[in-house]
Amino acid sequence: MLQGLQDARKELPSKYFYDDVGSQLFEQICELDEYYLTRTELGIMQERMAEIVALLGPNCLLIEYGSGSSTKIRMLLDALQDPAGYVPIDIAKEQLLRSATSLALAYPELEVLPVCADYTSDFVLPLPRKPVLRRVAYFPGSTIGNFDREPARHFLHQIARVCQGGGLLIGVDLKKDFNILHRAYNDSQGVTAQFNKHLLVRMNQELDANFQLNQFGHYAFYNPGQSRIEMHLVSLKNQTVRIGGSEISFKLGESIWTESSYKYTLEEFAQLAATAGFAVERVWTDPRKLFSVQYLTVG
Ligand code: AVI
Repeated sequence: MLQGLQDARKELPSKYFYDDVGSQLFEQICELDEYYLTRTELGIMQERMAEIVALLGPNCLLIEYGSGSSTKIRMLLDALQDPAGYVPIDIAKEQLLRSATSLALAYPELEVLPVCADYTSDFVLPLPRKPVLRRVAYFPGSTIGNFDREPARHFLHQIARVCQGGGLLIGVDLKKDFNILHRAYNDSQGVTAQFNKHLLVRMNQELDANFQLNQFGHYAFYNPGQSRIEMHLVSLKNQTVRIGGSEISFKLGESIWTESSYKYTLEEFAQLAATAGFAVERVWTDPRKLFSVQYLTVG
């Protein structure tokens, strides 16, 4: 965190939003009217579930990257034919254990094998007792949009290695009217602002920092040249903040870049997937073409 704040362009990794409180704030974002992503993705899944299940086939091992509260997976588990097991991977331990336990209770036939890990690093894939016909990764919510291009390619390539001979079911947010994007990341209730500031809260609590939350403003905008939403925390005055034994100075208007959320055309995403070893087998979108769910295969 210190390194990111000492750079000339201050930047923090967005994965640190997701401790228990941050994950809950994100769940609240998903419920917001303005945040069309979750609703639209679930609508597509519901509508196309029969096709999705037919592609995934019986006895697949489902591996969910960043499983959060494991709500979306229930829809798949309800429809899948005899899955070999479910491996939820998440960095937020309490939530992972809570949701793995409640899933195991709700699906007594299903072997649930949670992995607490940063899913971008290597982890050991647990093997279920049942035979596995194919491994299918599940990466919903357009979280792939939170990766810059090269890390996105690298991460997809890692999934391709894990799922050799199988596939990846992924949610990818699409390019659209800037105003829709702007509203989604600047909600009227201020939940996204609170989510953004959660990084400061965490640094105060865990790194002995003294950020004053009301001296930083949430600022999110679409950068069309880079095809991404950029989320920042902007200093509202000249100030110096302590983090442990270090001091970081902020000028009025200076920002900490906290997250990027890339938006793709279908062609752009197919190109990215191809560079990671995936072929796009099937794409489903909603009638307004706001969002896509895609099934990619790896040979
Ligand atoms: C998790 N991820 C896909 C969200 C997004 O839309 O980029 C995180 C988020 N940031 C602000 N609102 C939601």
